[in-house]
Amino acid sequence: MPLTHTRDLFAKALKGKYALGAFNVNNLELLQAIVEACEEEKAPVILQISRGARQYANPVYLKKLIEAAVSLSNIPIAVHLDHGDTFELCKECIDDGFTSVMIDGSHEPFDKNVELCRKVVDYAHKHNCVVEGELGQLVGAQHDEGENTGGYSKGGVYTHPEEAVQFVRKTGVDSLAVAIGNSHGAYKFKGEQHLDLERLKNIKKALMDAGLGDYPLVLHGASSVPKDLVELINQHGGKLGTDTAGVPEADIEVARRVGCTKVNIDTDLRLALTAGIRKVLDENPREFDPRKYLGPARATVKELVRHKVRDVLCCAGHAFD
Ligand code: G3H
Ligand code: 13P
Ligand code: ZN
Repeated sequence: MPLTHTRDLFAKALKGKYALGAFNVNNLELLQAIVEACEEEKAPVILQISRGARQYANPVYLKKLIEAAVSLSNIPIAVHLDHGDTFELCKECIDDGFTSVMIDGSHEPFDKNVELCRKVVDYAHKHNCVVEGELGQLVGAQHDEGENTGGYSKGGVYTHPEEAVQFVRKTGVDSLAVAIGNSHGAYKFKGEQHLDLERLKNIKKALMDAGLGDYPLVLHGASSVPKDLVELINQHGGKLGTDTAGVPEADIEVARRVGCTKVNIDTDLRLALTAGIRKVLDENPREFDPRKYLGPARATVKELVRHKVRDVLCCAGHAFD
């Protein structure tokens, strides 16, 4: 089966009210684990590639590996550029056949972000590719001063519902990554901090009320940082802090029901792979055949992905809708 377009995956996910897992690919084992898990769970999937992944593995290797995965499986697979930071990088990926790209201008002021996104959208739409933009910054949970007066601050680090509407209208982006207290990595929250799911509902509603329909939102930083994986890593020589914290899976489920159609997961894959490798090498210090530790590590990642698509994102069983 050839690549499936991100546009088609989104349309079906919105209709079926499930979320698509967007899993980061950096090497062969991660790719195999993700695709095999989704194949067994009959789940559509978005494989996403960052600038760092392209630098690590080489774009040509990644392209050929994904071509192999697509030809060996029969589930719908889309390929997405994660956190593209320049027009040139987005253009390279569009020209290379990616079905979607993210242009991340979130660190820029609103108008500059709009300008950058607009340029990518203009090129992408002429070349059969869709675009994800981001408004607000993934700085983690913070207090929004505007909430003191019963509202939200404009131009702040969190996505403002009305600004989201303006942003989508002015840029023409096909999906929007939101900042609602989410952040990347394994140390997301301190104490009682959590995602601002109320704000997410208001963003979705503002887009709907503005006539933009059931507009697809994207949740970055959606790893849950499972305690059992952190413990396994630390039992076998790791030194992850006691303050690791992810997004509770119950919150991801709420985000899915509210309208996050694409859910980005990378850190959990890294933890699973690391846990698998550490366990084997710690228990078998004489082992030096990479297949003996990468194989079990790949199986740990696969189990994690199966769980995500089946129990959290609810896209399992939707591959052939
Ligand atoms: O958003 C960040 C993703 O986890 C990709 O990370 O840039 O280290 O590949 P990376
Ligand atoms: P995590 O670090 O929570 O896995 O987020 C990944 C992500 O947002 C990739 O764009
Ligand atoms: Zn991200």
